Amino acid sequence: MNSERNDPKALVTGASSGIGQATAVALGRRGYTVAVHYFHNEKGAQETLRHIRETGGEAVGVKADVRDQGEVEKMVEAVLKEFGTIDVLVNNAGSLVTRVPLLEMTQEYWNEVFTLNVNSVFYCTQAVARNMIRQKAGVVINVSSIAARNGGGPGAIAYAAAKGAVLTFTKGLAKELAPYGIRVNGVAPGVILTPFHERFTSPEQMKRMVDMIPLKYAGRPEETAAVIAFLASPEARYLTGETIEVNGGLLMD
Ligand SMILES: NC(=O)c1ccc[n+]([C@@H]2O[C@H](COP(=O)([O-])OP(=O)(O)OC[C@H]3O[C@@H](n4cnc5c(N)ncnc54)[C@H](OP(=O)(O)O)[C@@H]3O)[C@@H](O)[C@H]2O)c1
Repeated sequence: MNSERNDPKALVTGASSGIGQATAVALGRRGYTVAVHYFHNEKGAQETLRHIRETGGEAVGVKADVRDQGEVEKMVEAVLKEFGTIDVLVNNAGSLVTRVPLLEMTQEYWNEVFTLNVNSVFYCTQAVARNMIRQKAGVVINVSSIAARNGGGPGAIAYAAAKGAVLTFTKGLAKELAPYGIRVNGVAPGVILTPFHERFTSPEQMKRMVDMIPLKYAGRPEETAAVIAFLASPEARYLTGETIEVNGGLLMD
């Protein structure tokens, strides 16, 4: 597909499942042509593409390990070749990796968590910002976490610190890119039902967390995606440097 349409163009990382998948679908429904990024889960990415196309949207799949700057640069080049531009970048790919208490943490684990959750945001943003700066327009949305503000659940210190870095990066980047007409914002999801929690949270732990949520349920990926879609839209034109909590009231700032 070589998109000749005038639709806005979006790249969503980690769009093969969970929040990223819901975001890609939400943007597709709102008329964006979407680059659906994945790494391991090609089947999930195909599902995302199918959902978007079923509702009349256009989308392409792109594969890259976001921990590798060279792969990210090639992915962005490929999307730019296909779309001509990228108007919206959603830095969503990320993971807790595994739960580890401080005394069992290795340097390798720490670096893995930071490379996946923080370096990836730097690599993707730098690669896309070159084009956004040239076109003097664009929107970047970073997916942080409630862990950035509350320190995370058991064994999630490195992840919480990494998501804190994403939140701070969002603010600094917003200032640096504002003169080019580029807005940078974030979302900080609370407890959202995705494969993330299927891997890292026991049913008992999930029940305890849901009991603490004032709205009394774990969020659906579509509810975070809706906030991301708002941040991407012109309605959010006076917002930059902000990270919006999407957590059913679990943490209020
Ligand atoms: N669910 C929650 O409650 C929650 C709360 C706060 C923040 N978050 C954040 O929200 C984002 C999405 O999480 P989710 O809950 O939707 O989890 P998910 O369903 O596990 O999705 C994670 C996504 O990240 C991608 N990814 C993982 N490692 C990658 C790598 N090395 N290279 C490229 N892509 C990679 C995965 O792609 P492949 O599977 O194709 O490799 C997948 O699409 C993450 O940044 C997470 O930290 C989630």
